[in-house]
Amino acid sequence: MAPSAIDIPTPISDGYDPRKDTFRGPSKVAFNPAIHLNYTPPNRKYTYSELGLPLKGTSDFGTTEPFQLCSEAAVVELRRELLQPSTIKRRMHSWYRAPATLRGFTEKEAPFIHAFWRSPEVHKIMEEAVGIELEFALPYEIGHTNIQLGASGKEGVQEFPLLPEPVPAGWEEEKSVYHEVNVDDWHTDSFPYVCVLMLSNTDKMVGGETALRMPDGSLRKLRGPTMGSCIVMQGRHMPHAALRAWNTGERITMTCSYRPKSPALRDDTEITNSLELSYLNELTGQFALERFKVLKKKSEYMIAQLEKAKKDALEREPDNLDAVIMDRKAVKAMMKEMIWYLEVSMKQMKMHIDED
Ligand SMILES: [Fe+2]
Repeated sequence: MAPSAIDIPTPISDGYDPRKDTFRGPSKVAFNPAIHLNYTPPNRKYTYSELGLPLKGTSDFGTTEPFQLCSEAAVVELRRELLQPSTIKRRMHSWYRAPATLRGFTEKEAPFIHAFWRSPEVHKIMEEAVGIELEFALPYEIGHTNIQLGASGKEGVQEFPLLPEPVPAGWEEEKSVYHEVNVDDWHTDSFPYVCVLMLSNTDKMVGGETALRMPDGSLRKLRGPTMGSCIVMQGRHMPHAALRAWNTGERITMTCSYRPKSPALRDDTEITNSLELSYLNELTGQFALERFKVLKKKSEYMIAQLEKAKKDALEREPDNLDAVIMDRKAVKAMMKEMIWYLEVSMKQMKMHIDED
């Protein structure tokens, strides 16, 4: 049987106009920073110190002001993959905190989403925002997307257009069970750093911000003024929520999560929240792999430190058979951190040390 029209990707030619391509599926468009990025650095950033939040994280970075990250052409390709039938069918999860998320896309299902976030250009922007080198917290979290639901519920998600438009004049939202429900209720993230990218039209949107709760109970609300804008934050230790948007047919935000790249910095990653929203064998398998990668890197870092200390001692005191060849404090700190890291790993995966 011939495949249906929707399964046939539009060939990409020089005159390709993503706005006219109604295909929903893995994008055939190669990521091109000249076309897909529209970057303007954030006007300012706020540290945890400035916000009056306790310093529990791996840097003092708190959050950026909203800034423009990508173009309309990128938004359309991201949505083409998000809103494809198989993704809506197989990748939609919901839980008490959020009525609808789309997440866990493989590169085969969503090549553009992966190419976008994995591009050196976007990665560099994220590192500039945070101020330290980063790596992905977990492949499963690349492109995690929160979707606001309306009266048509989950069924309505497949009706969202690839190019979002403002609602027409006089449009009124039909009341539903989701009417007063936050898109993602109050929480701290499982991942150290996150970018939240707005994929809906914001021309007439009211609300829809990411709200941060300050120590005095006040709220700081951040939302990009345009489609394709984002905020970057260290959400691991900062209570926040994705607020419902009004006067808009939809509110879709895509996120990508990061951990510090440096082996000298702690990895705060957990999967507490992800366990509620994932295919568990895939998630825990990825999590275990990433934990060992981090431990390997930390081991290699400490091996290099100890080898250098030994070399330095030999050069400094060639005749002293009992020269100091390690920084006991640093070794102890790293060993403690590695024990903690393995304990967190086992706890997260519901493994008990005394059980087979
Ligand atoms: Fe969050």
